[in-house]
Amino acid sequence: MAGALDVSENLMSLSHFSENDSVKTVLARRSWGSSRIPRDFDVEAIMFVVLGAVSERALQRIFPSLQRLYESFLIDQTKSVFVAVGLDNFKTDVFRVFLEERLPPSSKRREFVNKFTYVRADCTKGTELSKLPPSSGDRTLFFYSLPPSIRQDAVMRALNETPLMNSWTRLVLQGSDPQTYNVRDSTFLLSEEKLFRIDPFAGSDATRRLVALRFGNRILEPTWNRNHVRSVLFDFSLDVSASKAYPDETFLRDVFVDHIFSLIALVAMERPASRFGDDVRDAKAEVLKAIQTAKPERMVLGRSSINNHSHPTSTFATVVFDIDTNRWRGVPFICRVGKNMDRTRSEVKLLFRTAAGADALWRDQGAALKENELRIRVFPSESATLDLVSNVPGLDTQLKNQRSTLDFLSQAAPYVPDPFERLIYDAMRGRRANFVRKDALLEAFRAIEPALAHATSTTVVHLYSVGDRTGPLASDDLISRTVTGGSGPSSPSLSSLSAAASSSSPLKATSPQMQSIQTHVMHHHHRDCPWLANTDIGSEVWSHATDFSAAREMQLSLRLNFDQMRLLLLAFVREMDAGIKSRNKSECAEAPTIKMLETFVTKLPNGTEEGSFYGLDLGGTNFRVVRFELVRGQAAKKVQEVSYRIPDDCKHGSTSDVLFDFTADCVAQVAGGKGDDDGSSPAVFGFTFSFPTLQETLSTGRLITWTKGWTTHGVVNEEISGLFKAALVRKGIRGEVAALINDTVGTLAARARDNHDVRVGVILGTGTNAAFQDPSTGSVVNTEWGGFGSFYKVPALPMNVVDREIDKESPNPQEQLFEKMISGYYLGEICRRWLWRLYEAKELWQSATIRDDVAIGVRDAFSFDSRFTSDVEMDLSEGLDLIRDIEERVLGVAGSSVMDRLMVREVCRAVVERAARLTACAIAAVVHRINLPGTVVAVDGSLFEAHASFKQRLVRALDLLECHCALVLSKDGSGLGAALVAAAASRKD
Ligand code: BGC
Repeated sequence: MAGALDVSENLMSLSHFSENDSVKTVLARRSWGSSRIPRDFDVEAIMFVVLGAVSERALQRIFPSLQRLYESFLIDQTKSVFVAVGLDNFKTDVFRVFLEERLPPSSKRREFVNKFTYVRADCTKGTELSKLPPSSGDRTLFFYSLPPSIRQDAVMRALNETPLMNSWTRLVLQGSDPQTYNVRDSTFLLSEEKLFRIDPFAGSDATRRLVALRFGNRILEPTWNRNHVRSVLFDFSLDVSASKAYPDETFLRDVFVDHIFSLIALVAMERPASRFGDDVRDAKAEVLKAIQTAKPERMVLGRSSINNHSHPTSTFATVVFDIDTNRWRGVPFICRVGKNMDRTRSEVKLLFRTAAGADALWRDQGAALKENELRIRVFPSESATLDLVSNVPGLDTQLKNQRSTLDFLSQAAPYVPDPFERLIYDAMRGRRANFVRKDALLEAFRAIEPALAHATSTTVVHLYSVGDRTGPLASDDLISRTVTGGSGPSSPSLSSLSAAASSSSPLKATSPQMQSIQTHVMHHHHRDCPWLANTDIGSEVWSHATDFSAAREMQLSLRLNFDQMRLLLLAFVREMDAGIKSRNKSECAEAPTIKMLETFVTKLPNGTEEGSFYGLDLGGTNFRVVRFELVRGQAAKKVQEVSYRIPDDCKHGSTSDVLFDFTADCVAQVAGGKGDDDGSSPAVFGFTFSFPTLQETLSTGRLITWTKGWTTHGVVNEEISGLFKAALVRKGIRGEVAALINDTVGTLAARARDNHDVRVGVILGTGTNAAFQDPSTGSVVNTEWGGFGSFYKVPALPMNVVDREIDKESPNPQEQLFEKMISGYYLGEICRRWLWRLYEAKELWQSATIRDDVAIGVRDAFSFDSRFTSDVEMDLSEGLDLIRDIEERVLGVAGSSVMDRLMVREVCRAVVERAARLTACAIAAVVHRINLPGTVVAVDGSLFEAHASFKQRLVRALDLLECHCALVLSKDGSGLGAALVAAAASRKD
């Protein structure tokens, strides 16, 4: 009769058959959604005892799973006995109400909870556990859900003393305590066949799926090894609500030992002799023996800001393991585990190497050629995706990584059992393959214990905010370094240069050539730079701050994580596109924030230029006039140079005549009234004017707007060469402007002469900007990226309260917002304002004196020049004496404590790190737009050249974004570059 039932019939209509085994079989089949019910389906009377009945774990996992099994008729409903044990003083009927309120509603919920008896007992005492009611048969299944403060070995001893103990009795154990297995006398411990150690996060489905994918597929099985796999990432996170069930003290140990090592074993093991029982457990234990013990330098520990009590433990860890087997030697197994994150999930990702020869075949596609990635989601919803390189339909070849999804759920049953439910069912049936065996457990302890010991003793714990996706920045950095490290260039020349470079200080490069080599090498080989020791901003110093403190506000407001960086990069790409489109007004309704100006520079110097040319440089602190002699095939020779500090009144408040008369006076010092040496022809100038200029021709252009704090009247909208030439005439100097260029164009030109892979010029100085040679037109574009985000049009630009203040009080509010967050003109001021906020919030300089008898000090805007951020970072002395000196001399602060000075250093670090990360996003976007392999970026400016840490931070951030370009210093891009562009323009090709 039961066999004839239609599966769409209402289950309730069958309830009166619940005593009938064949009906139960049908119901169980429906519930488990399989056309075949479990082969050994057989309902036996069992006594279920939950030790630690009111723990979050029991309430969230054990009782609901038992309820589902009960309602699915997989537990005998009439003869089974249910006992809840705890220290709370409940009467059974009160406990039942308590439990009912916490279980998911269902028609049988009340019936299920009414089966429970509550027993108040101390689980470490055999005499107390003897109060448990007798079992109806001889089968007792204990669930262990006691707090970490209770010793597992004591509980095992007590259980051994109860009359319930017999050859069938089993203990389902979650969270193993190493002390239990270290005890000298282990005779009282439960024997191994009684212990069912659970990986609470992976039910047998995930496990079976991994085994099926690995060993059942011809395309995966032969590639599952070091020759094809570059790295493996295990990513485990719990959101804030799921985190509550896991005490901080044991969280990392439980997840690593129970879950991560189970997954590592499944991914890394050799093929087991069979899918069953101890064959799988043997294969797992074997590979775990080969896992190398975690090393402190290959781990990052983190603490979420919610976890803030006096002896807080780490709630986050990224650890990189090596497995010393022929299959895996050299492949990093990266494990990232955290609680209080943005989501609950567990995933494994295998990153495969690029196909052999593919780089050569698609050389023109650059970064588009990605590696294959296989991603297996273990929970919450089981799935797998595979990224395959493919071609986008269209006229041209355009590679793209295409994601294919193996959607298990849609193929699966209407109801998929919770993994925990499956595990309980397995324990009831005595199936052991998915439980952790003692030898595997001990190997896992061995591999992770040093890291965990470090987690409780170390002070270097990086903070991350509650709800973060990837945890502390230092973890992002470790992962990116590990992933790229395996594939970086390893040619002997580069590694020997790297060794040479690392032996000298980053500030002491001997020659410009050496500097550029160092920069290039550093890009591929990270050196440990003391200023970068702690990339997660302020972690040690702020770790005592409360959630609402100004220090915490600063730390979070200046933070830029990997996801934000990626969003910014995309926004840059979009804005640059819009900038190009806006040249043709009809294609772009709104003004873009990156202008992408035409420069009319179509010829970059190629080494054949000859003659005498002047480079003029206006736009920074000094005005410079430099004369060069150019001889075909030879390096440019500087024959004369003068540099004059531009008086403040020329920049602010005065008129164009005052400014340009000043420049003409300076030129007169070098060029006099004559032209070239014999006086027969006028001097030829390449004029670098470092402001956004709408070029009309190569040699003429109008200022669009002032930047960097300049406000001189009568220049905006005027033609610049005209203003300059008028001043020359007023001073009686003969000369012609052959090229009017931006400093970024000069920077590009100065290095492009000897290296044709130089396609981008970047300025990181008082202001910031980039120019690049567009491969499709050959002409150079001045991006004016400093304007990115202007008028608050790009929400991805993470401006904070201080950025907004600075912008509001600037002469050009809402403009150049990106520049205001990164350039030398503003960095010092950003730091000063944060310092002042900390002081006002009574978190800094509380016992120091803020002197008011100094002419200018910490209260005054722009009193803290950006170069001091570098000096402050360089101070690694014990007493931070240089910082004290700067506090006294520059900020007018006397008598600070060492803690104050540490804070000052952290503020500078935070501000500079953010600036470097922002800059990396912009560079990566330009390199992405050019999309040619081997692109070299020429950079000029004090921030890049002279700052203690900026360059290294920038290189690391570019690596994080996987932007594979080399950076070279372009010294005197503005002077030399301008002369070279002027010379190239006169070339006859
Ligand atoms: C200007 C750019 C210039 C950059 C670097 C910015 O403020 O708008 O034109 O290239 O500073 O000097």
